[in-house]
Amino acid sequence: MKKIKDKIRNKQSKVGIIGLGYVGLELLLSINEKKFTTFGFDKDKFKIEKLKKNLPTISTITKQRLSKTKKKFFYNLKYVSKINLCDVIIICVPTPIKKNLEPDMSYVKNSIKSIYNYLRPGQILILESTVYPGATREIVFNTIRKNKKLKIGKNFFICFSPERVSPGKDYSINYSDITKVISGYSKNCVKILSFFYSTIFKKIYVASSLESAEFTKLFENCYRSVNIGLVNQMKIICDKLGLKIFDIIQTASTKPFGFRPFAPGPGVGGHCIPIDPLFISWVAGQKKVSSDFIRISRDVNLNITKWVVDKIIKKLNKNQSKILIVGMAYKRDVDDYRESPSIEIFSKLKRKKFSIDYFDPYISKLNIKNKTYHSLTKISSIKLKSYNAIIIATDHRNINYKSILKNSKIIFDTRGVFQNINDPKVVHC
Ligand SMILES: NC(=O)c1ccc[n+]([C@@H]2O[C@H](COP(=O)([O-])OP(=O)(O)OC[C@H]3O[C@@H](n4cnc5c(N)ncnc54)[C@H](O)[C@@H]3O)[C@@H](O)[C@H]2O)c1
Repeated sequence: MKKIKDKIRNKQSKVGIIGLGYVGLELLLSINEKKFTTFGFDKDKFKIEKLKKNLPTISTITKQRLSKTKKKFFYNLKYVSKINLCDVIIICVPTPIKKNLEPDMSYVKNSIKSIYNYLRPGQILILESTVYPGATREIVFNTIRKNKKLKIGKNFFICFSPERVSPGKDYSINYSDITKVISGYSKNCVKILSFFYSTIFKKIYVASSLESAEFTKLFENCYRSVNIGLVNQMKIICDKLGLKIFDIIQTASTKPFGFRPFAPGPGVGGHCIPIDPLFISWVAGQKKVSSDFIRISRDVNLNITKWVVDKIIKKLNKNQSKILIVGMAYKRDVDDYRESPSIEIFSKLKRKKFSIDYFDPYISKLNIKNKTYHSLTKISSIKLKSYNAIIIATDHRNINYKSILKNSKIIFDTRGVFQNINDPKVVHC
């Protein structure tokens, strides 16, 4: 342990990140910025080629930040044997949900499989992907322990640390200010991870077990899903009563305790909120315990998209079929449209024979059911005037909303961008 700690202290440890997506790339850059040598691995060779050319693969990462990394240390899986050179290995691969709502652990399993033969004593292996409680022990520990050279907790360390980054979020605090929750297979695993992550993050919180850390991450996103579901349901009720949900939230927010505001919207998206709560439902189901809150909030958050679409269709007549959707990302200031409600709105309206264009400054093109669509490059006043209606589906900050307000005929505002505007052409939904 002393040798490993000395290497960390002297910044001689090499850190390998497996999976360079929204989580992995941000983590790689943050660790690189703390003067560790970082190795990035991804199975997507096109992504690796782009990174080697210093081309950011996600909109929240700048060329300038990326330029500080050593390009020769980005590898596709053909070079996964290089993992042997790494002292710290962090797995950040996807953990989606299957059609039958079971966690899909295949990416985690495959990543472990690909590195297994190149592991050696003296390494710290951290799972950072979001997983169901028990997964680190079942998948990572149970596989690694088959390697007789590796004495877990003695010369090899297995840990789980949930990722809390929120890509695109305009933090008043830095990434390194987010408290890092850590957990390990044994006390030594926790000690060594705490030592390593203290060089990256300002505050470390040691969870009581691997399972506790795994569940905590799911609970955090479940909390968001349930509260967003609640506020979306309140939006529908307010609408029926002729009240404005944002007005209610603003008023309730004056209470200095016991109330935390959540924003209503057209639904939830991304790789976390729609998925992570289902990991809890799945384990709860295995134990024959109910998880009604999760089911109800999921239903509300799915149905709200339909409610928005119905409201749009009801308001428009047959001759008002040309629509522009502003924002396809699932949330503001990101290029991520996985599970985005905008896609659902787009598809539903297309099915109803509306002519739909979209504008998203972060998503120049997107694929829906094997068809590629392109964003408008800009929205001039003339262009805006050519549409019968505009739908604000994502509230990116770099959009000229004043121009939208001035030049549009009808605006369906699903994000509260015009919450303080009393203009009959603005439909709050
Ligand atoms: N995106 C978020 O905001 C966020 C926040 C917190 C936690 N998480 C969790 O972090 C994990 C990663 O999420 P993400 O959004 O970064 O996913 P992502 O899809 O953006 O990136 C994952 C990357 O892993 C690569 N990959 C897949 N299998 C691989 C393998 N076997 N070996 C090497 N590379 C492989 C993919 O090519 C991709 O580049 C998930 O478990 C997610 O739930 C995500």
